[in-house]
Amino acid sequence: MKYIRERLGAKLFLANLMVILIGVIILAITIQVTIPAAFNRHMGTMTDNDMGMMGQGQGQGLGRTLFENFRASMFESLGYAVTASVLAALLVSLFLSRRIVAPIRTLTDASQHIAEGHYEKRVDVNGSDEIAQLATRFNQMATQLEQVESMRRQLIGDVTHELRTPLTSIKGYMEGLVDGVLPSTPETFDQIHHEADRLSRLVDDLQELSRVEAKAYSLDVRSVTVSNLVQTTVKRLTPQARDKRITLHPNLPADLPPLQADEDRITQVLVNLVANAIQYTPEGGDVTISAACQADEIHISVKDTGVGIPPEHLANLFTRFYRVDKSRLRNAGGGSGIGLTIAKHLIEAHGGRIWVESKGEGQGSTFTFSLKIVK
Ligand SMILES: Nc1ncnc2c1ncn2[C@@H]1O[C@H](COP(=O)(O)OP(=O)(O)OP(=O)(O)O)[C@@H](O)[C@H]1O
Ligand SMILES: [Mg+2]
Repeated sequence: MKYIRERLGAKLFLANLMVILIGVIILAITIQVTIPAAFNRHMGTMTDNDMGMMGQGQGQGLGRTLFENFRASMFESLGYAVTASVLAALLVSLFLSRRIVAPIRTLTDASQHIAEGHYEKRVDVNGSDEIAQLATRFNQMATQLEQVESMRRQLIGDVTHELRTPLTSIKGYMEGLVDGVLPSTPETFDQIHHEADRLSRLVDDLQELSRVEAKAYSLDVRSVTVSNLVQTTVKRLTPQARDKRITLHPNLPADLPPLQADEDRITQVLVNLVANAIQYTPEGGDVTISAACQADEIHISVKDTGVGIPPEHLANLFTRFYRVDKSRLRNAGGGSGIGLTIAKHLIEAHGGRIWVESKGEGQGSTFTFSLKIVK
């Protein structure tokens, strides 16, 4: 029974068999019911003359008449029976094909709805045959489309919001200059330049984000050593750290195996994490970059003695445009909350994970990512 319920082919086979069986049964029943009456009628038409022939021993003539009447009654009954069984088979076929086609029709209607952009449409799944499996997959596809659509809306909303802030600011400065409210001093122009710079950085970040989200880049995977990655990062960020009197501490064990990774991409991640650590650590703090072997993975961590992260924000940090304290960061010339999202995409593209730990506000934070060691 389970076999039949799970297979459309078996159902179609059974349906055909049922149509044939019902046809045959109706045929047999109709013959049974109609044959006595037909027989009586046709035999009743045999005349006394015919009967007389019987007495006179003209058996041959009688035989022919008997045979013809028998044949006529047989054909009459068969005529009724065939008509009844064809009608019955038609009705049963109609009923069965309707039942089999009904879920396909529901799917067609639902896909029409989705094609028109109503992504909330779902179909009921009955049974477990191929059509039911198709319905399940269809529902999964609709859910996926709905999510993508809501992400798209959210992204447009976020991007508009992010672009509006520096634009409003630049517009404000320009109006102030035109009206003579703001003095045309180098400081004012510097502020305008700063906002324009922020805008162009944001556009660059957005472009990079869309590239990594769409996976529109290729990884140039080679053997790389962690110490190379860390050296490049430290070299690149030393000026920034020096400006804030922050000390960078590379802390690597000597015997780390090499990684199979895209060096530029992993450096990009590490630069991102260390730049954040410098940005969110007050003057005079420390940033430690360490690495350790854990089973078949290498864990690379960036630990700072900075502002820390309240526990309720930890889960959302890797979501795009997410910032712990938007106003403070904006005033402090902070970023747009895209860096960690890009980092997460890049690490996951390498088959790794990235996570954050922090004991809370003012207690520093540690960002760690893992990469598989390929043996
Ligand atoms: N080391 C850290 N210490 C404390 N908070 C951090 C640290 N790193 C990141 N954060 C928090 O996570 C948020 C997201 O970081 P992310 O790097 O994605 O964006 P951003 O630094 O604001 O901007 P950008 O896209 O320019 O990097 C930051 O706004 C900040 O609130
Ligand atoms: Mg950042």
